[in-house]
Amino acid sequence: MQTPNDLDAFFMPFTASRQFRQTPRLLASAEGMYYKTTDGRTILDGTAGLWCVNAGHCRPEITAAIADQLGVLDYAPNLQVAHPLAFDLANRLRAITPANLTQAFFTNSGSESADTAMKIARAYFHARGETERTILIGRARGYHGVNYGGISAGGIPNNRAAFGPLLPDTDHLPDTHDLARNAFSRGQPEHGADFADHLEVLIDKYGPTRIAAVMVEPVAGSTGVLVPPVGYLERLRELCTQHGILLIFDEVITGFGRLGAAFGSDYFGVTPDIMALAKGLTSATIPMGAVMVSQEIHDAFMDGPEHLIEFFHGYTYSGHPAACAAALATIDIYERENLLTRATELSQQWEDGLHALADCPHVIDIRNIGLMGAVELAPIDGAPVKRAFDAFRAAFDKGVLIRTTGDTIALSPPLIITRAEIDTLFSTLRAVLHEI
Ligand SMILES: Cc1ncc(COP(=O)(O)O)c(C=O)c1O
Repeated sequence: MQTPNDLDAFFMPFTASRQFRQTPRLLASAEGMYYKTTDGRTILDGTAGLWCVNAGHCRPEITAAIADQLGVLDYAPNLQVAHPLAFDLANRLRAITPANLTQAFFTNSGSESADTAMKIARAYFHARGETERTILIGRARGYHGVNYGGISAGGIPNNRAAFGPLLPDTDHLPDTHDLARNAFSRGQPEHGADFADHLEVLIDKYGPTRIAAVMVEPVAGSTGVLVPPVGYLERLRELCTQHGILLIFDEVITGFGRLGAAFGSDYFGVTPDIMALAKGLTSATIPMGAVMVSQEIHDAFMDGPEHLIEFFHGYTYSGHPAACAAALATIDIYERENLLTRATELSQQWEDGLHALADCPHVIDIRNIGLMGAVELAPIDGAPVKRAFDAFRAAFDKGVLIRTTGDTIALSPPLIITRAEIDTLFSTLRAVLHEI
């Protein structure tokens, strides 16, 4: 595949695009654990694309299911009419998500899932007549996509700074990153369950009947893999239950095997009332997201005359036939190959390999859980994010795709990674950290 002659017309997402246009990194094809660039180089995918290609690239079973579906039913709305695969997929998700989550609402991305989850929370209380419960609590450094609900409840300053005014009635818990007490923790850090207690401060601030929902990622991914301290999620659950607040888990990254269990909720043994999904749902082959809700939440909408719409929300492509076919084929692979628990088998090697990088220059923290990992670097004085970005470019030149966020390198390979590929990933990273 040729490099395009002119790279000017594409306004790129989340990219240093002037730098990119000078030295483009163009991916032409992919298979299994590897990309091929337009100039024929092989790149080991250390990030599952963007935390999403959990089953590995170009799996023939998935691409065939999509192609077959497009030949039979290319599109059908799911508004007032519907097609069977959307129900099949909803049933499949009901079976594999935690038992209390019984209905699936389909979206096309993680951002849409996050905003849908927040809208469901507010509308649930509206339906129950608790119209004062409108406040949505996110967390500092939380990432819930880029739509207005997501950036308002989210807590990544650069994603918010230029876009105000944001959604009213949102507030934040503190993040759980605590280098002083927890640097170089393996798995869940020991200290910090008390960060959850800040919810009580917010309940005091707004009063007992104003907060609709708390939304967190079980492990904060995009901000640089912040693993929840031991007891933290349990404490959040306890406080939400105690105060009638819905708990939303944004499992867009932690869903579908990333931690070694089907969902973060299973891994941590903490169950939310609403779960946002995307990415691994179709192993990223077709854009798709889903929001799982409890029976009680679903049933709160099922009121009034039966000819009226119950939930005024949805997308043209909610439950698109090709996306449903992709998701069903993907879940088949996850189950057949035990991929949803494979991270458990690899996580010790992953942890040991990652933490062995602690002696490399500039490393100030290393974090890991399941098949997620982060190496935090000391920023260059006066040039934050440059050191990590240099690492990203050097790794790409050496044939490995990593991801950086701030001055943190984040890793999340496809769940099919082999032990030898884990070693290659870390030995390349070691060379990169010594080079930059
Ligand atoms: C936890 C979380 N929520 C939402 C999103 C947004 O997903 P999308 O980019 O598909 O809109 C992401 C993307 O990384 C995410 O990590």
